Amino acid sequence: MTNLLSVPRSVEWKETSITLLNQQLLPTAVEYIELQSIEDVWDAIVSLKVRGAPAIGITAAFGLALAAQSYEFETREEFETQLQKDRDYLASSRPTAVNLFWALDRLTTSIANVKSLNEAKTTLVHEAIRIQIEDEEVCYQIGDHALSLFSKHDRVMTICNAGSIATAYYGTALAPFHLSVERDIPLEVFACETRPVLQGSRLTAWELQQSGVNVTLITDSMAAHTIKTKGVNAIIVGADRIAANGDTANKIGTYGLALLAQAFDIPFYVAAPLSTFDTSIEDGSSIPIEERSPEEITHIHGQQIAPDGIHVYNPAFDVTPNELITAIITEKGILKDDFTSEIAALFS
Ligand code: MRU
Repeated sequence: MTNLLSVPRSVEWKETSITLLNQQLLPTAVEYIELQSIEDVWDAIVSLKVRGAPAIGITAAFGLALAAQSYEFETREEFETQLQKDRDYLASSRPTAVNLFWALDRLTTSIANVKSLNEAKTTLVHEAIRIQIEDEEVCYQIGDHALSLFSKHDRVMTICNAGSIATAYYGTALAPFHLSVERDIPLEVFACETRPVLQGSRLTAWELQQSGVNVTLITDSMAAHTIKTKGVNAIIVGADRIAANGDTANKIGTYGLALLAQAFDIPFYVAAPLSTFDTSIEDGSSIPIEERSPEEITHIHGQQIAPDGIHVYNPAFDVTPNELITAIITEKGILKDDFTSEIAALFS
């Protein structure tokens, strides 16, 4: 695979291991780790060495395929029982991004018609690689559609990192910015730092800078003032799970930006692949919201910044109601009228 952007790939299949860009260390170190076991993969997802909905799905798919390579079962039943156990183990890593479950289930169903256990092992690897290749194409298409919504010199705000390293390549919400450089359409991006884990400052600011995008970093609390004083034209974000009516779970802080977009009368866009839609749930109220450790808030780089024993609430995601979303940009085009019927049509 060649790199068109000046941004490294987040994950690569290596037959007996998985090479992962350690996103925990960015932006000060660009380091790779080798995941040798299913436990390594689970830990990498939980500890955010890999994060971002599509990248989590791809890594988990490789993890399940890797685990299956060492199965030494005689019967298909034993093989499938262990595969299901390993699937459930990986699925327990993070609850919100539906791409994780989507990718794992795609793998387990891919072996339905295989004729031998050896063929099952090969099929699992091929399916995981296919998921990664498809995601790269899908992200490019999302970027293409999203770029059509912007004009030269637009100023666009984003939060978290829905970028190339959160996907197979290109990203979702950041894809139009990468393509804008390739196509010489100057855009200006304002990246919210994204407390508490700082995906905006550590990852988006770094990734867009690598790519030559004009990016300015702000803290989350500066969003309203920045929209007003810098004349921000639009907000674009990624998604971790989109319900059948378009309600969208994404990084904590996204809902607040959607309310700001409404207050300032600027468009609020969600960019996501079909693998991020969960049509089994009617609306956002059923999306499980991950709560992460209090230390993410009480400490910065090991340095305590809050009193001992303080009560902490640390939801990693929030849900933006569909009425605050101007358009949802997918690989199949832009949804902008009646999300419920447009989403139903996409999956019919
Ligand atoms: O906790 P994270 O870093 O996994 O959260 C990531 C996000 O919220 C992204 O916006 C989303 O997964 C889309 S990535 C293309």
